[in-house]
Amino acid sequence: MLGATGTIGRATARALMARGHSVACFVRPKAGVGGTMSADDIARMLPGAELRFGDVRNAASISRDGFKGERFDVLVSCLASRTGAPKDAWAIDHQAHVDVLAAAKAAGVTQVVLLSAICVQKPLLAFQHAKLAFEKELIDSGLTYSIVRPTAFFKSLSGQIERLKKGKPFLLFGDGTLTACKPISDADLADYLADCLDDPARHDRILPIGGPGEAINSRQIGECLFALMNRPPKFKQVPVALLDTIIGVLGTVGKVIPPLADKAELARIGRYYATESMLVWDAQAGRYDAAATPATGRDTLFDHCARLVRGDVTDERGDHAVF
Ligand SMILES: NC(=O)c1ccc[n+]([C@@H]2O[C@H](COP(=O)([O-])OP(=O)(O)OC[C@H]3O[C@@H](n4cnc5c(N)ncnc54)[C@H](OP(=O)(O)O)[C@@H]3O)[C@@H](O)[C@H]2O)c1
Repeated sequence: MLGATGTIGRATARALMARGHSVACFVRPKAGVGGTMSADDIARMLPGAELRFGDVRNAASISRDGFKGERFDVLVSCLASRTGAPKDAWAIDHQAHVDVLAAAKAAGVTQVVLLSAICVQKPLLAFQHAKLAFEKELIDSGLTYSIVRPTAFFKSLSGQIERLKKGKPFLLFGDGTLTACKPISDADLADYLADCLDDPARHDRILPIGGPGEAINSRQIGECLFALMNRPPKFKQVPVALLDTIIGVLGTVGKVIPPLADKAELARIGRYYATESMLVWDAQAGRYDAAATPATGRDTLFDHCARLVRGDVTDERGDHAVF
């Protein structure tokens, strides 16, 4: 398995082990957000999994330290660039996967389950093109594949709780109704990924998937959070045009100061999620279709937010958190 130290990866490793699979995780020795997780931390987080340490960006390490000349049945990947910056996305979402796929074939793997993203259906960003390029290579590989394209994760929607706790308003792009999604929990997505191994209906398919219930927009998420905090809603609208200005400035300055080019891509990613729904895109009708977006699981974002507000759980804030 790849990406077992990430948000969905760790839940997926547990779901696979709960189904009786032997799971070997190929990880780097300093993992987690900012590389703060040691080998011991990883072992504590993934009890029962076999850890193999190496570098997924190095084809020799993949074979030597990952597969170690042994036979495997299935490759499950939740590996993804932590930044979404173009260079990292092409190195991880595409090239690392291409190299692992070649090594996996040599190790006898006949089936691949890949965590992708629903947003690749309308690709505008570098990481989406990198993901799509590997999806195509996987489909053409002749191996049995399940390409799982989830909607929005809870951690990507709950990020404003700390702002609100400090009395700040909930930030909305436009009026907060521009986009909608069917949020899916880490555990429900992990179950869905793990069940791909034995469900023939999920083989050789691209699988968009959301969580249970109706699609919701940002304003509804904000209203829910204020209700949970027993406070009157307080919103601040951010014009999408502001993001366009930021993208323009960072893009221009980024031509001379490369790190700012990555910031420009981060702003582009923010703009994408501010204006595109995480639902199945109906190309013929030219609109997102909530009813056509398949759903799975039981966990709702609202229950999760209630637990966050009570302080019962925390979300891991990623390297590319927008709020
Ligand atoms: N956020 C959303 O709402 C959303 C919605 C739909 C789909 N998605 C898709 O879901 C995926 C992200 O899932 P996630 O949130 O679980 O990811 P995550 O928490 O950022 O974890 C990424 C995983 O990839 C590994 N990784 C990244 N760069 C690496 C490198 N250079 N070498 C070795 N390992 C590396 C990380 O390992 P380390 O711990 O060592 O860094 C980690 O295990 C992406 O494909 C994204 O497009 C996200």
